This record gives sequence, C-alpha cells and structure tokens, in this order.
Amino acid sequence: MRALFVPLLLLYASGSGRAAGASGAKGTRFVCTAVPAGTDLSCPVDTSSRVQSTSPQEEELRNTIIQLRETILQQKETIVSQQGTIKELNSKLARCEADARSRGSARRKDYSKNTMGDLPRDPTETVQQLGKTMQSLKDRLGNLEQLRANTSGGMFPNELRDLLKRRLTDLESQLLTRVAELEEEKSQLYNETATHRQRTDNTLNSLLERITELENSNNAFKSPEDFKVSLPLRTNYLYGRIKKSLPEMYAFTVCMWLKSSASPGIGTPFSYGVPGQANEIVLIEWGNSPMELLVNDKVAQLPLSVSDGRWHHICITWTTRDGFWEAYQDGERLGTGENLAPWHPIKPGGVIILGQEQDIVGGRFDATQAFVGELSHFNMWDRVLRPIDISAMANCSAYMPGNVVPWVDANVEVFGGATKAALEICEDRLFDS
Ligand SMILES: *[C@@H]1O[C@H](CO)[C@@H](O)[C@H](O)[C@H]1NC(C)=O
Ligand SMILES: *[C@@H]1O[C@H](CO)[C@@H](O)[C@H](O)[C@H]1NC(C)=O
Ligand SMILES: *[C@@H]1O[C@H](CO)[C@@H](O)[C@H](O)[C@H]1NC(C)=O
Repeated sequence: MRALFVPLLLLYASGSGRAAGASGAKGTRFVCTAVPAGTDLSCPVDTSSRVQSTSPQEEELRNTIIQLRETILQQKETIVSQQGTIKELNSKLARCEADARSRGSARRKDYSKNTMGDLPRDPTETVQQLGKTMQSLKDRLGNLEQLRANTSGGMFPNELRDLLKRRLTDLESQLLTRVAELEEEKSQLYNETATHRQRTDNTLNSLLERITELENSNNAFKSPEDFKVSLPLRTNYLYGRIKKSLPEMYAFTVCMWLKSSASPGIGTPFSYGVPGQANEIVLIEWGNSPMELLVNDKVAQLPLSVSDGRWHHICITWTTRDGFWEAYQDGERLGTGENLAPWHPIKPGGVIILGQEQDIVGGRFDATQAFVGELSHFNMWDRVLRPIDISAMANCSAYMPGNVVPWVDANVEVFGGATKAALEICEDRLFDS
C-alpha cells in the first residue's frame, strides 16, 4: 500500500512545483516523499548511495521512486515544450488582434474619406449634405419667387411654381424616409446608398437645371443691353457669368453702372480669373478697406465710394505701360496711379464672374466678398478710353458697347438666385437721385 501511496504524493508535489515555476518562482523545486517512521530522513536522491545497507523491500521502493522521477522529468520536458507552443500561439493571437484593430480603424477612415469617388461616404454625411442642398434649393426658389413677385406678374406661371414646390416636397419626404431607413440598417447600406444617392442626385440635378433655366428665362428686353443683374443676398452661390472670355491685353478699360448699399464694403462687382492666377483682374471693396483694383494679384486702392444705394457709373483704365491706372466715378476722374503690375500682359482665356471673388477659376466663392446690389452696362475694352468718352457715357449722352466684352443679354448668365430684369439705366437712373 505504501508503494502506491508514495508515487501519488510525488506526483502531487512535483506538479505544484511546476505550477509555482510557471507563475514566476524559479529554481527551487520540492519533492516530498512519505517514509516509514524511524527511517533515515536524508533526501531521496541520496538514498541510491546507501543501497548496500537497505532491505530488498526498500530497494524495490527506491527503484520505483527512481522510475517515477524519470517519468516526471520526461513529463516536465513535454510540459516545457508545450509552454513554448502556448507562448508562440499567444503571441500570434496578439498579433492577429492588433492587425484586426488597425484594419478596423483604417477602414473606418476610408469610409469617411469617400475614396470611391462619387459613391458612398459616411451615411450621416451624405444625409447632411443632401439636407443642405435641399435647403439651398428651397432658398433659391424662395428668392426667385420673391423677385418674380416684385417684378411685373406673369413671368412665373403658377403651374410651374406649384410643380417645383411639389417636387421639392417629394424630395424632402424621400429624404426623410431615407434618413429613417439609414438609422435602422446602418450596416448594409453601402451599395444601397450609392444607388439612392444617384437617384436623388439625378432628381436634384434636373430640379437645379429647371431653376437655372427659370433664372435665365428670356425676358425679351427692349434692347439687348437694357437689363440689369440683381444680386440681392450676400451668399457664396449667387453670381453672374460673362460667357465671353478676354483676349491677351496690354491695356483695358472696364465700366459699369452699379447700385449698392451694402456695408461694410460693397463686395466684388466683378473678378476675372485665369488658370494659375485667380486674381488676374478684380474689383473689390471688402470690409472697411477702400475699393481696390487687383491686377495679377497686385493691388491699387481707388478713391471711389458708391455704397449710398444709388446708381453710379464707374470706369477704371489700366495699361501695362508703367502699370498706369485711372479711376472714374460718375464721369469724373477721381484718382490715378502707376506701378500696378507694370509690363504684365493680361492673360487670356479666363472667366469673368459678376458679384463674386474667385479663389479658383470660376469658383470657390467667399460669401464675405460677395457683391450685394445691382449691376448694368458692364463693358470692357482692350484700350484706355478717353475721359470725354467716359463722361459721355456717365451723363447718358452716349452709349458705347465694350469691344471685348459688350453688355448684351445673351452674353450674361445668372446663377443661384441672381436675376436679370429689364432696366433702361439712363431712364431709371433719373428717378433714383
Ligand atoms: C420684394 O418686395 C418686398 C416688399 O416690397 C421687399 O421687402 C423684398 O425685399 C423684395 N424682395 C426682393 C428679393 O427684392
Ligand atoms: C454591391 O455592388 C456590387 C456591384 O454592383 C456587387 O457586385 C456586390 O455584390 C454588391 N454587394 C452587396 C453587399 O450587395
Ligand atoms: C455729357 O458729357 C459730354 C462729354 O464730357 C459733354 O460733352 C456733354 O455736354 C455732357 N452732357 C450733359 C447733359 O452734361
């Protein structure tokens, strides 16, 4: 019975020693052995050296013990190698986890970055953007209606207005439904959003086209130059565009009638941007600064002041020769200067925008620099006009269309709620002052 008892104890003791080793305590290992009362109490390892003085029973016991120790040592080796395997697996697992985490965050980033071109971005962003587009369309429709209501009736048929209203309402409810859907099933919306977005975009585009068409609808002015462009709000989306571009020029004169009471600063009556130079020619009155002429992004301050809410005629001339300029208001030359972009030829092929300052050619407008008011007879020549020509235009005794940009209805497009309306400046101006 004893022989059986001892191995059990041995197993138990060496097992707990290993466990202690695994949890950090190193080196010492205790092996306990049960022995009969009165026997030699020296360590079992040493017993082999005393074989001579022991009984056969004891010897058998010792042999058993030695065998068992062998077995245990073997097991220990196995366990150690298993520990190695476990460690390796653990580190592999950790690496996998880390990879998975970084992949997860990278994917989240990609999602909001919209790397797929036009197709889905973050759903919330999509919805917000659609919401904004809806709002701006509604604002534009509102403007349009108000402006049409203020001019003589009949230009904006009721059916059309109702149709647009209905379509806006439809779009709005579509949008709301979509928002609800998105809230519900955010996980599988990737493809669906793409299709839906496309559908909504199509509808919005056709609506946009219709509105622009209405804004540009031919009013059949008395003669092609008898109209004005109104830019009633300070926004970054109301503007007019001259369909013609400019040739290369070594001098120019630009004249216009304008009316504004905006403050501080009337904004940007016009800007001409070319690829590589958004500020090729800009007329701007921004914040509390005086009116400025920019040529090739160089600045001259002009002694002009027009923001009293009345019509004023202004002309600016410039020549590349010494960068000499003149500024006229209501037919009078109020200032001259030189060294404004001297010897710079005005670059051809750009875009003339009425009412906005361009940060890139034809776009990226800034609401704070928008012109608020009305413009008419925006004409441009590729030469410096004589003072007598300018005063004759200003006192309405003569009208000369620009030789590079004439003010004609077919040449001027309006966008975003800007409108064209009939105006015979030389008649209407009289009632104004
Ligand atoms: C239309 O007229 C009303 C009142 O006459 C005026 O308050 C409103 O500002 C005008 N709207 C536009 C866009 O000119
Ligand atoms: C998403 O669209 C692509 C191409 O239209 C298709 O191959 C794919 O199966 C779609 N995935 C899901 C989850 O519907
Ligand atoms: C208008 O200006 C022109 C050119 O300066 C001048 O000859 C003419 O007398 C002016 N007419 C009036 C009515 O002031």
